[in-house]
Amino acid sequence: MMDKQILKNITVLYAEDESVIQEGITETLILFGINVICAKNGQEGLSLFQSNRESIDLILTDIKMPELDGLGMIEKIRELDEYIPIIITTAHQETNFLMQSIEYNINDYVLKPIDIYKLEKNIIKAIEAKVLKEELLEKNKKLEIEIQKNEEKQHIIETQSRFAAMGEMINMIAHQWRQPLASIGTASFNLKYKLLREEFDLETKEGREQQSYFFSKKLDEIEFYVQNLTTTINDFRNFFKTDKISVNTNIQNSIQHTLKIIQKDLQSNNIQVILDLKSKKQIDIYENEIIHVLINILKNAQDKFVEKETENPKIEIKTEDLEDTIKIDIYDNGGGIEDDKLNIIFEPYFSTKKEKNGTGIGLYMSKIIVEKNHRGSIFASNVNDGICFSIILHSMI
Ligand SMILES: Nc1ncnc2c1ncn2[C@@H]1O[C@H](COP(=O)(O)OP(=O)(O)OP(=O)(O)O)[C@@H](O)[C@H]1O
Ligand SMILES: [Mg+2]
Repeated sequence: MMDKQILKNITVLYAEDESVIQEGITETLILFGINVICAKNGQEGLSLFQSNRESIDLILTDIKMPELDGLGMIEKIRELDEYIPIIITTAHQETNFLMQSIEYNINDYVLKPIDIYKLEKNIIKAIEAKVLKEELLEKNKKLEIEIQKNEEKQHIIETQSRFAAMGEMINMIAHQWRQPLASIGTASFNLKYKLLREEFDLETKEGREQQSYFFSKKLDEIEFYVQNLTTTINDFRNFFKTDKISVNTNIQNSIQHTLKIIQKDLQSNNIQVILDLKSKKQIDIYENEIIHVLINILKNAQDKFVEKETENPKIEIKTEDLEDTIKIDIYDNGGGIEDDKLNIIFEPYFSTKKEKNGTGIGLYMSKIIVEKNHRGSIFASNVNDGICFSIILHSMI
């Protein structure tokens, strides 16, 4: 449906060397409501285009003109503006020029003598296409800004998540280190105490042997605990490495690794962990990320137990091989959550732990890691007396 209103107040640059034709067509264009800027040849057309570039909506031009012909002018204009619509007026014998005009992206042509209705139709078509293109460009620009904003938001969330994870890690390290540090303290106190009390009779061979036995036993203990501290710190350091290299592994290894990191935390809350690990398949995963997911889920269960003061807190982890995927189910008996919240918990910043300053990004990041980075899926369901988080990952063929 052609809309003649679209012609009101548009500006056309019209290049034509035959003044009779130019005057006639210009008069009609003005009747349509169009503003017309007239040029006698291509050279004048080009300089008028340069000085009125912002206001010109369309170019109408003859081909054969003195000084600079129509195609010469178009070539120069196209260097300045890729999109401005161009319509050519041409006589029959000039049609071989049309081949050349394709390369300049000409919108249309009108044969001379000019059929004014056809010209009007062609101008409307070209202007409508221009408006659509401008709207599209505008929409694209808005979309790009939106995408950029989303990327920035995503980056902020990822950084927050990293900080939150680091905070949790430091807590876990503190838990892991408490016992070996206390043991090192006790061992060195014992050594000092025996020395002060002069417990061993160094005059006798037996006394010297007793002292040497006692000292080497205590030093062995200290060495053992120092080794323990070093292993812990290595586990955590590996976890925080940012280089994203996938490993080919069995999910059982990743689960054991996770439990090693978090075990002291679980133990100090008397949480029983039941394992039923049946999956045997190999999978390609970013292991640190998957460990991050598992820790998020286990920590959430632990938070729930503390909140509900659950009597016999229990976490059950099951794995099984499906056709070309593997499934990990993590159950807890912490009481679950209202059914209508089962999907919302994966949204960023949703947290019911305001008093504990929950960030509400743990599960959101877990979803990104599983679904975006591993093309798997993660979902939650209420079962019996708690919640079950299920993770599906693709296995190797
Ligand atoms: N095992 C669970 N049982 C019941 N509700 C849960 C469980 N795990 C998560 N939720 C609910 O999902 C919400 C979102 O969890 P998410 O890990 O994203 O953030 P958070 O735990 O609140 O905050 P943060 O991880 O920073 O401590 C929790 O606040 C809680 O309401
Ligand atoms: Mg959490």
